[in-house]
Amino acid sequence: MSHGPAQPLTAPASGPLTGVAEVPGDKSISHRSLILGALSEGETRISGLLEGQDVLDTGAAMRAFGATVEKHGGDWVVHGVGVGGLLEPEDVIDCGNSGTGVRLLMGVAATHGFAVTYTGDASLRSRPMARVTEPLALFGAQAYGRSGGRLPMTVVGASDPIPVAYTTPMASAQVKSAVLLAGLNAPGETVVTEREATRDHSERMLRGFGAQVETERTAEGHVIRLQGRPTLRGRDIAVPRDPSSAAFPVCAALIVPGSDVLVPNIGLNPTRAGLFETLREMGADLTYENPREEGGEPAADLRARFSPDMKGVEVPPDRAASMIDEYPVLSVVAACAEGTTVMRGVAELRVKESDRIAAMATGLRAMGVEVRDGPDWWEVDGLGAGGLPGGVTVATHLDHRIAMSFLVAGMAARRPVTVDDSGPIATSFPIFRPLMEGLGAAFA
Ligand code: S3P
Repeated sequence: MSHGPAQPLTAPASGPLTGVAEVPGDKSISHRSLILGALSEGETRISGLLEGQDVLDTGAAMRAFGATVEKHGGDWVVHGVGVGGLLEPEDVIDCGNSGTGVRLLMGVAATHGFAVTYTGDASLRSRPMARVTEPLALFGAQAYGRSGGRLPMTVVGASDPIPVAYTTPMASAQVKSAVLLAGLNAPGETVVTEREATRDHSERMLRGFGAQVETERTAEGHVIRLQGRPTLRGRDIAVPRDPSSAAFPVCAALIVPGSDVLVPNIGLNPTRAGLFETLREMGADLTYENPREEGGEPAADLRARFSPDMKGVEVPPDRAASMIDEYPVLSVVAACAEGTTVMRGVAELRVKESDRIAAMATGLRAMGVEVRDGPDWWEVDGLGAGGLPGGVTVATHLDHRIAMSFLVAGMAARRPVTVDDSGPIATSFPIFRPLMEGLGAAFA
């Protein structure tokens, strides 16, 4: 995706946010639906797919690899090529802003005997890819990229792949998933061990498409075993709504006086729900209404009401993976709470779409919030409800979650907050603006 001119956007102080916030489909599950559909035999019909640019870029990539990906009415329909059946793309694969897209695709294609060149926008071209290409080399794939293992990068896939056993050195679902997806077209068993559990959508969905995947908890951590060369069968998928997008209306409601917002039908898979647990520990008036199971996963309607008495907490480091994308907006809530919020074990935040600790710390400090940070930790001193001064313009560094977090800050601050570019919001939450306006927010 080529990113057009910057689109500044301003959020002034908001009146009460009220009503129902129907957030779009889950980004992680949407990417995987398209990829696994493309690797299946027969048809996969997807309802509720997130039509964010990241996912659309993955859909275009699957077409370039030979699958048919089409929109029929409100659904997306994929006709797959079967495991091992991808075709050599005729052109460079441009994954836009999406680390998930490029890393999962590198995994899938690494066990096909052809070369693929990947690129992306300025944010993605600055992000580390060695974390994926190192385990892919064990299958027999070779990567040639820019210095520091950056895109553009060509990966020559293994024509005679061997299955691998690999322990991920960092908590990353993308790395785990890249190895599992590569293992699909290697004969025998591929084993991934992760010390801390990360989001488990790949494992669940691979099983759903017919692969044999076993997960075991051992002293070393989570061990995931995949039997290679399965036949995957197309299926119907209803993508649940994204808890990482729900985070924005939920957090906005907690800090904007008078708010009461219902965010229906949010997946509460424990590998994704860490933010909501943390907010409740802070004293947020956040309830799970109508708790139920949806497609084998816990789900509920989230109800968030203005919570003037929230207190800073120490977020347990072992919770980091289950809320890794939510720390930016948590830091905004922390700035509106009493006392200090401590976030440790979060080095991964430095290699997301931007260095998210630096981006949030810079903007919060500019409005007078005390933030301390180190390589893998940060602390925010809250100013209490109504204490956020605002009155700043912040740089979003092509990072959708930085943009949305500061717009939420502006809704609760005394003076407006402007983000220098709201364009990247379209990568994950294209309806963010109309959805927040529907609740009562005003943008300029
Ligand atoms: C994702 C994994 C996480 C997350 C990203 C989506 C996924 O990245 O930040 O938004 O779908 O696997 P890491 O695996 O790098 O932690």
